[in-house]
Amino acid sequence: MSNESNRRDAGRREFLKQSGLLTGGALLTTLPSFASSYGFNNSADDTIKVALIGCGGRGKGAALQALKSKQNVKIVAIADAFRDRLDDAYKTLNQNPELAKRVDIPEERKFVGFDAYQKAIPLADVVILATPPGFRPMMFEEAVKQNKHIFMEKPVATDAPGVRRVLAAAEEAKKKKLNVVVGLQRHYQPNYREMVKRIHDGALGDIIGGSVYWVSGGVWVNPRKPNQTEMEHQMRNWYYFNWLCGDHINEQHIHNIDVANWVKRGYPVSAQGTGGRQVRTGKEYGEIFDHHIVDYVYEDGTLINSQCRHYEGTFSKVDEAFLGTKGRVDSFGRQSILKDHKGGSIYTHNGKGDGDPYQIEHDELFAAIAKNEYKFWDAENGAKSTLTALMGRMATYSGKVVKWDEALNSNINLFPEKLAWDANPKLLPNADGFYPIAVPGKTVAV
Ligand SMILES: NC(=O)c1ccc[n+]([C@@H]2O[C@H](COP(=O)([O-])OP(=O)(O)OC[C@H]3O[C@@H](n4cnc5c(N)ncnc54)[C@H](O)[C@@H]3O)[C@@H](O)[C@H]2O)c1
Repeated sequence: MSNESNRRDAGRREFLKQSGLLTGGALLTTLPSFASSYGFNNSADDTIKVALIGCGGRGKGAALQALKSKQNVKIVAIADAFRDRLDDAYKTLNQNPELAKRVDIPEERKFVGFDAYQKAIPLADVVILATPPGFRPMMFEEAVKQNKHIFMEKPVATDAPGVRRVLAAAEEAKKKKLNVVVGLQRHYQPNYREMVKRIHDGALGDIIGGSVYWVSGGVWVNPRKPNQTEMEHQMRNWYYFNWLCGDHINEQHIHNIDVANWVKRGYPVSAQGTGGRQVRTGKEYGEIFDHHIVDYVYEDGTLINSQCRHYEGTFSKVDEAFLGTKGRVDSFGRQSILKDHKGGSIYTHNGKGDGDPYQIEHDELFAAIAKNEYKFWDAENGAKSTLTALMGRMATYSGKVVKWDEALNSNINLFPEKLAWDANPKLLPNADGFYPIAVPGKTVAV
């Protein structure tokens, strides 16, 4: 064992002693029998073992970013609901010969099905959770229970009971000092970091208003195929079902809504809005709306207007703008200029050489883990920004003003009673294959 790995092992044990994890008999008895769970092993090397759960576009990307971080990362297990998705990810992870040297996934560590995550989590030190967000609460809970460090994609839930589970597990993760990074990558993007820091330091005075946007042409759709059960259809076409996705205000627009929360250093107290299905009305589009416009009101009265829509062939904008008492920022993502009210630059971010935020979030997470540092507790903000987006959906579906506490305490649970390919999700189509759609004024959404 090299001096460096000796030092790291000693450091790990010290870190765990300090965090109380080595002292609690109860905790130790809950440890998986697999002896090399990160932080609990005395193994000679400093390999950080990673399990990927959810092998789609983002999961593959995150696993590659983990491998590209400068640490000694190995992917040791993968899990997916579907075998074809898992095989595709396995192929992608092995495409680059250099990175493939650290992909060590024999057949017995490939897991398929609804319980695949339970088999993969014990084998790793760090888990990547990149399934559709409806599964995040149960998977995050399990990973925390098993004392894993976690990278999980946004959003972290699709209904309020899910948000509450994530908030409770986030508390546990904090007590256990498990690093948790949530894929709201603007927090790891240099221009956002620099601009928000300056706004918090007062460069624009008090922030009194703003607008956040994700207006675009929309995303993929997987129409029903012959012989699919209802569960398989919804799982393959997950974007359009709320128990899995939460609607696009949650799945995509959370990024921009989260920037508003970050800039305001808080969460809105209420939301009201309007939305519907104007363009995307076919049965293949499940139940979600194609547009939402929401007014979010913060404790100090600040109003942030949020707009998201999926209309093919229209103007696109994914960005944020804020108005302060001393100045404004018209575009966060594109121009990165803080201006005074006469148009003079207060700060211009020169993004030359800025790293890729998706890579940075992994570089920073894995560096902290390798150094036994506890640096990331993103889950609470991830859950509260998820709730902010869901509060917007509750407002547009119901047509009512929704208060933060009402949203948080909502008992509408969208998750199926049973997860099995022949079990029915809660939302079912009519005889023509169309799903019930929320009707503002009638729908109870909170
Ligand atoms: N941060 C970002 O910029 C960003 C970008 C894209 C996606 N995402 C997020 O990443 C997540 C995944 O999105 P994606 O685009 O990769 O979707 P995807 O459909 O490409 O991948 C999801 C994968 O999860 C699998 N899966 C579904 N249920 C599962 C279960 N119960 N257990 C195991 N596997 C399961 C699916 O079969 C699929 O392979 C979403 O939460 C999405 O919002 C984030």
